[in-house]
Amino acid sequence: MVLKKNNINTSRNLFFNNKYLEIKGGEILAGKVKISGAKNSALVLMAASILSRGQINLFNVPRISDVLIMSKILTAMGMNIRSNANHLTISSEQTSLPSQESLFDLFNALRGSFFCIGPLLARFGKAKIPLPGGCLIGSRPIDEHINSLKKLGVIFQFKNNSLSAEVITPDKRLIGSSITFDCKSVGATETLIMAASLAKGTTILNNSAQEPEIIDLANMLNLMGARVKGAGSERITIEGVESLKGCDYTVMSDRIEAGTFLIAAAITRSSISLCNCEPNHLRTVLKKLELCGCKFEYTKNSLRIIPNQILNSVNVTTSPFPGFPTDLQAPFMTLMATVNGTSKIEETVFENRMHHVKELKRMGANITVKDNIATIVGVKKLRGRVVIGSDLRATAALALAGLSANGKTIVKGLEHLERGYEDFSEKLRTIGTRILKK
Ligand code: EPZ
Repeated sequence: MVLKKNNINTSRNLFFNNKYLEIKGGEILAGKVKISGAKNSALVLMAASILSRGQINLFNVPRISDVLIMSKILTAMGMNIRSNANHLTISSEQTSLPSQESLFDLFNALRGSFFCIGPLLARFGKAKIPLPGGCLIGSRPIDEHINSLKKLGVIFQFKNNSLSAEVITPDKRLIGSSITFDCKSVGATETLIMAASLAKGTTILNNSAQEPEIIDLANMLNLMGARVKGAGSERITIEGVESLKGCDYTVMSDRIEAGTFLIAAAITRSSISLCNCEPNHLRTVLKKLELCGCKFEYTKNSLRIIPNQILNSVNVTTSPFPGFPTDLQAPFMTLMATVNGTSKIEETVFENRMHHVKELKRMGANITVKDNIATIVGVKKLRGRVVIGSDLRATAALALAGLSANGKTIVKGLEHLERGYEDFSEKLRTIGTRILKK
């Protein structure tokens, strides 16, 4: 189900700007980068706050535009949000929800807003939100969410690009059930954990996604009084409770930002350190970078990368955690475009996530794509060009290409980057990149 054109335009205009990055390539990086809180955890934790009758204090929240949109959505729903740097205080003074029609532009601007449907149904017994249609990287279906919520006692109506959902059990409360997902879906797993946390009885989720962000969600819900067991494994058990209280919680470190900066170091053959990161979330990425010729020193929450001067090609197939993350496919391809040898990168999670290839080829990369498999023949040097980022991770990949390219690279589409990376250009500048945000 895809949004009407005008909806997509409206939603994108919320943050469209013609700001760009100007990068002068060839610098060797050095120093330390502090990794921010994880976008893909913060958004779902913010949605989970709808479940609580108390006050939620979230720490280590990244200052990014997706968090800003989610804050606007929750505020428009009647929640009270105060933000101070990386600290959000969220409390739901409301006991019922105003019409959500007014939220449509905001919901359309942020796919992650769909995380609200589970908590809305669990807390208020109904929800009316726009369909989170497809985006550039794929059709992004929601059938796993819908089919599973139906098993908890929900009926759905689809009308002009929105969906109305209602709990139809006798006491209007979700009822626990046993569910087996057809595919590993991070969002569907998170939606069902949140919905089931206030259901009557026990819910068992089989074939669940195992991403670390799901463990973060379960940890916060359990602090609020929920009873979630097995998060991070394929089988999750949620014993429903009557209500959930407030809590203080610190968002986990962003493993995708950490991976992006590791690749920035590898592509410039530089040694840098990352702090406030969780190496344990990056095992597959570290293994691939080691195969490519990088060494690592790490503690529980820090990492130092030491790349060889000569790096080699490595094949990658993206897959759900603990496999190689799809969100690092584009940045890693940029690295493969600049090392010796030929590599193959297969994207198995999303059907249309190769938009960066065209722009990398304009910078001189030698890449061909067939059936979601990219064959990359490394070249000595990329050429600085004016390139356009199309989505969050593709824009990051083009910025990384600019770090190592000869000459100046202009990366347009900064609004994509600002959705998911806090202070990206400032962090690159602190480790020696000649980069300007214009
Ligand atoms: C989350 O998206 C992340 N977003 C994505 O990060 C990430 O790429 C993705 O998980 C995979 O790790 C947030 O957490 C906000 P999925 P999500 O449901 O939950 C299919 C970024 O760049 N599927 O795990 O939407 C789907 O088509 C973003 O930070 C169904 O078939 O991803 C895809 O092929 C991009 N039916 C696969 O599952 C469904 O009902 C994985 O999607 C749901 C999903």
